[in-house]
Amino acid sequence: MLVVSDYNYLKGFYNKSLKKTLKKKLHKKIGLYPEDKKNLLNLNNHGYCILRNVFSKKIINNLNSKFQKEIKNLKNISIPRNLRTQKKDIEHIYLPKIDKKTFFAGERKFRNLTDSIKLKDPLVNLPELINFSLNKRILSLTSNYFGCVPYLTFLKCVKTYKNKIKEHDTQYFHIDVNATKLLKVFIYLNDVNSKGDGPFYYVKNSFKNIQKKWGKRSRWEDDYLKNIYSSKNFIPILAKKGDVIIANTVAFHRGLKPTKKDRNIVILNYGMHVDFTFNNKFDITSNIHKVDFKNQNSLNQSILSLLNKI
Ligand SMILES: [Fe+2]
Repeated sequence: MLVVSDYNYLKGFYNKSLKKTLKKKLHKKIGLYPEDKKNLLNLNNHGYCILRNVFSKKIINNLNSKFQKEIKNLKNISIPRNLRTQKKDIEHIYLPKIDKKTFFAGERKFRNLTDSIKLKDPLVNLPELINFSLNKRILSLTSNYFGCVPYLTFLKCVKTYKNKIKEHDTQYFHIDVNATKLLKVFIYLNDVNSKGDGPFYYVKNSFKNIQKKWGKRSRWEDDYLKNIYSSKNFIPILAKKGDVIIANTVAFHRGLKPTKKDRNIVILNYGMHVDFTFNNKFDITSNIHKVDFKNQNSLNQSILSLLNKI
């Protein structure tokens, strides 16, 4: 049976991993950029922050068009779930995939059958993402949060469709239960200016006392949470191309389903150890090419050391 990993076991594992990493000179935290002092405070006090203009629009546009090319090609895109088979129960997230014939007929044929699609092995198929994950401003902020430079544990590159399919899976409120302390970094590949553009939706301050909710449910209804947290704490996080959102997602959050336009995003996980999945077992990590790994300096290699080298 699948059981959410035990909070205290994960906390013990986190503390051991942190202690080990704090001893590594290489992982000494990186000086905070003056413009990010307030961001660190926001992250510590409210659970999230937005770093403005980390990447140039040109770099983001370039990445997005490569992702779009991959979508056109489909070779490196995972076949998504068929949400026409969706049940009423919001905790029911394991669904059959779209049949191959429909999938390979192209995006126009399947975009109204699913919520989103993902790029397989993002660090392999879009190797420029390696530099994104090693960005100094991101590492400086995350290292000041953890107390030392963290490890990249996982990443994904996702396109979420504007369509008539009802919300699904992580579009419902949930808590990430892969570690008791982790950070997720969200990089929108298009401007997200309004709720209709499908922003990351975060319940400010809900990370406090989250242990009480850990493992109780896998998906939560808005109405239930709005009775606990005041509605002013429900924040759709809007940002432009080039901005970076950093959040403690061991807190209530979800992706809002876009109603105006499709939304492309890169999500990076940073932590002190490999993410956990159910039953106190390790989750899969992302793949990276051996040669790309070897070409890095020793700190970068250490940051990427938990990934699978292929
Ligand atoms: Fe999540």
